[in-house]
Parts: sequence; structure tokens; C-alpha cells
Amino acid sequence: MSKRPVVLVVMDGVGIRESDFGNAVSNAYKPTLDDLWNNCPHTEIKAHGVAVGLPSDGDMGNSEVGHNALGCGQIYSQGAKLVNESIESGDIFETDTWKALVDKCKDHGKMHFLGLLSDGNVHSHINHLKALMKRAKEDGVKEVRLHALLDGRDVPETSALIYVEDIENYMAELNDDNFHACIASGGGRMKITMDRYEANWAMVEEGWHTHVLGEGRSFASAKEAIETYRAESGVVDQDLPAFVIAKDGKPVGTIEDGDSVILFNFRGDRAQEISLAFDGDESFDKFDRVRVPDVMYAGMLQYDADLNIPHHFLSYPPKIKYTLSEHLVKHGIRQYAISETQKYGHVTYFWNGNRSEKFDEKLETFEEVKSDVVPFEQRPWMKSAEITDKLIEAIKSGEYDFLRTNYPNGDMVGHTGNYEATIIGVESVDLQLARVKEAVDAVNGILIVTADHGNADEMYEKPKKEGAPIKAKTSHTLNKVPFIVYGADVKMKEGDFGLSNVAAVVTDLLDLPADEHWNESIIEK
Ligand code: 3PG
Ligand code: CO
Repeated sequence: MSKRPVVLVVMDGVGIRESDFGNAVSNAYKPTLDDLWNNCPHTEIKAHGVAVGLPSDGDMGNSEVGHNALGCGQIYSQGAKLVNESIESGDIFETDTWKALVDKCKDHGKMHFLGLLSDGNVHSHINHLKALMKRAKEDGVKEVRLHALLDGRDVPETSALIYVEDIENYMAELNDDNFHACIASGGGRMKITMDRYEANWAMVEEGWHTHVLGEGRSFASAKEAIETYRAESGVVDQDLPAFVIAKDGKPVGTIEDGDSVILFNFRGDRAQEISLAFDGDESFDKFDRVRVPDVMYAGMLQYDADLNIPHHFLSYPPKIKYTLSEHLVKHGIRQYAISETQKYGHVTYFWNGNRSEKFDEKLETFEEVKSDVVPFEQRPWMKSAEITDKLIEAIKSGEYDFLRTNYPNGDMVGHTGNYEATIIGVESVDLQLARVKEAVDAVNGILIVTADHGNADEMYEKPKKEGAPIKAKTSHTLNKVPFIVYGADVKMKEGDFGLSNVAAVVTDLLDLPADEHWNESIIEK
């Protein structure tokens, strides 16, 4: 094949922001990225809000919607928006799933809500939870329990009590002689339950023990748990240990036969493992579940339609069609995707429209480098060098026409809120970019460098009150991301582009037609 290979690098969480204050991108020593930016065709593209299918431009970007848009060249209404619409129209409550959930627990059981308690709108939204609780009461459910995963990663790092208070006030308003809702268990989202891509099943096991079996350190209230752990260890919300709420020495909400369980997260990556634990049959062997209650389990969405996870769900996910991978397969393009565990599914599952299967076994190769199970601020370089070793090998093998990778550092280290470490994370990516560029040169290839959303570009929260102490910012940003083409004589078009305009650039560079459903390319050749 005479085509020049195209390599696409996603620098996860590396956005562009004018101010240098707390900007771990602009303040990093990154000669390769600077050189590419200064000397190659480049532009800034949108990676947040409606440009990636989120409800509003106040919604920061995230890796799911970002990789979906990159990988399908279109903008689909995403989970956050679809669930809003389905709650607003009431359709969600007309589903057989909702009715079966209510029927299962109405007379003798409890309805359990498990999920991320915040308004981050990346994995979940507290308003969705409220709407479901309210309707559960209207439909005759009598006992509701909330298993609250504390965020501090898509929202300010120590904001858990705001959401706990909000939902407890809401439950108190609903509670009466016939209805009782309360928090039953919880813990930091990076400690229990919300592992992804099988990086650390032990987190899910601990979540199971906490939510289902009611085992673990117990407290009289979520507030007491949060305040005690904060005082004892000083850790931020996402890392707070698990807690069980108990009264008279007994957990108030273990999960039992005859109950219903709803995972109210809409995003799939961190929802799949716990869903498998609830939904999986006897062949489930990731950990010993000790007791498997006979419950009706449903997800807010179906998280993987190929693998049917979970079997029951309340809303349909976006049906993402006409993906770049499928299009390239039709044209016989050989593809290679690599990242480390933490972002492996981003360049495979999210990239391909939340599908974990390949379109063509022969034409597609997926490679995972195992992530370390450590706090990422302790190893901000993560597995960037190992990813690059393999990527270079793949580039030089001549076996692939289109190669893609994700370097997680700007994002995963950015989420820790540690500015110094995040600088090192960005610098690690830059070191690897230099190596990738050299390999691309060696095969006369073309390199695209971009990102899925910002994070490292803004590491401090603006203090709300003048003179208040500056706090670390752990969440993503609303900023644009770089888009650079190296090794091809192209011109950037004038216009307002976003991540959904990238797929057509890839086909342009591979000298292939774009799919007619895609948004236009950013380049002119
Ligand atoms: C996470 O799941 O780690 C955050 O909520 C979002 O990060 P990501 O969108 O970059 O994966
Ligand atoms: Co992130």
C-alpha cells in the first residue's frame, strides 16, 4: 500500500488556556509540543459542551464524549442529555424496566440507588437521582436506600458535604409515614466500586462488601463519616475510605433478596465492573461475592450493548453509527490502538461508540499496557514510555496504516490536584512525543496531535471570596484543545471546529473519502 501511515496522539487532559496561573501545560518544559505548535499547521478545537453532545456549554468535556466524537466524526446527544430528556418527558418511567424495578421491591423490599453523588454531569447528576426517588415514592415504593459514592473529581475536591446535605434535605422532604429514604453506605469514588477497565477489581470487591453486605467501618451518618475521615487522614473526597451507616449496631441498608438496585450513573467505563458483579451469573469469578442477593438490577443506561452490560437499563445510550473505525475497515485500512489500562477503553470502547468488540479481527489490533495501581501523583510519568515503545514498534512494523494512542498523564495526574506532579506528567508526554515524531519521520508518516478535553491547563480553583485560600482543582476544564498536523502539506481551514471534525481529517490524510454523515474536515490539502 502506498499510503503514508497516519498516527494520532490524544494527550488526555491537555487543554489550552491563556493564563499561566496554575497552568501545568503552559508552565511545563515541552520543547517538542512547542515546536510542533510553532512550526506546523495547527488550530484550537472545542472539546466541551454542545460541541461534544453535552446539554450545555457550561458542561466541561470528558473522555467519553471526547473519544466518541473523535471516533465517529459526529455529535450525538450524550447520556447526560438523553437521561435529562427521558426524565423530563416521563418516558423513563414508562419503561418495562422501571415498572419491574418498582414491582420487585414495592411490597416487601427496598429500592437501592447506587452511584456518584454530585452534579459533575460526567458520570451522573444528582437531579436524576432526585427525580427517580420522587417517582419511586409516587409509585408506591416504601423504602429507599442510597449508596453514595463521593466525587471531588468532576467537582471541587472537598465538596462532598454539599451534595450529602442536598440529598438528605431532599429525602427528608419526601419522608413520611409511608416512605423512608436514607443514606446506607458510601465512600470515595477512587476507593470503592468505580474502578474501570479492570485496573483494580479489589475496589469493586470492597464496594460490594460495603453496599451489599454492609461490612466496614460504621458511622451514624454520612456527614460523620466524611468529617471523621477528613480529620483522621486529610484525604480529599475521591479518596475517602468506605463507610457503612448503622443504627443500633446494624447496617441500615444491606442489599437483600427481593430488593431492586439502580446504578444511577449514565457513563459506562466505571459502571461496568459493579454491574457485572450484580448481573453476572455463577460464572462470575472476579472476586468472592460471599452472598449474591436475588435483586432486580438496572443501569441508568446500557453501558455496553455488545456485551449486554447490564441486561436491564432505564435509558438507551446514544446509538453511535458510522464510526471512523468501521469506515476504515471497509476501505481495508489496518488499524492499531494502544494505551495503558486507565485509558485503554478510551481508544477502543469509547473511540468505537461504546462498543468493545472489533469491527474486523484481522484489520484491527488493540494493545493494552498494564497501568500501575498507585496514586498517580507518585508516578506522573505513568506508562508513557512503555506505550511509546510498543507504538514505535507498531509504526515501524509497516503493518498499520492508522495508529492511535492516548497518553493519560495530563488527565490522570491532573485529577490528583497536584500541580508539580502534573507538570511532570505533561513533560513525560512531551518526551514521548519526540520519540513518536522520530518514528513517524522514519516511515515517512503523518502525525496528528490533539487532546480530548482540558484538565492540566487549570490546576487551581478560583477562590470564590477575595482573600480566600486557593484550592486545587481536580476536575476537567472548559478550554479548547490543540490540533496539530505534522508531516503533511496542509492548511487549516478558518472556522469553529471541534473534536467531531477530526475523523474527516484522518480520511483526508489517508487519501480516502470521508463518510457522508461526518462533520467536515479541519484541513485543506
Ligand atoms: C474519571 O472517570 O476519571 C473522571 O470522572 C473523568 O475523567 P475522564 O473523562 O478523563 O476519563
Ligand atoms: Co479525566
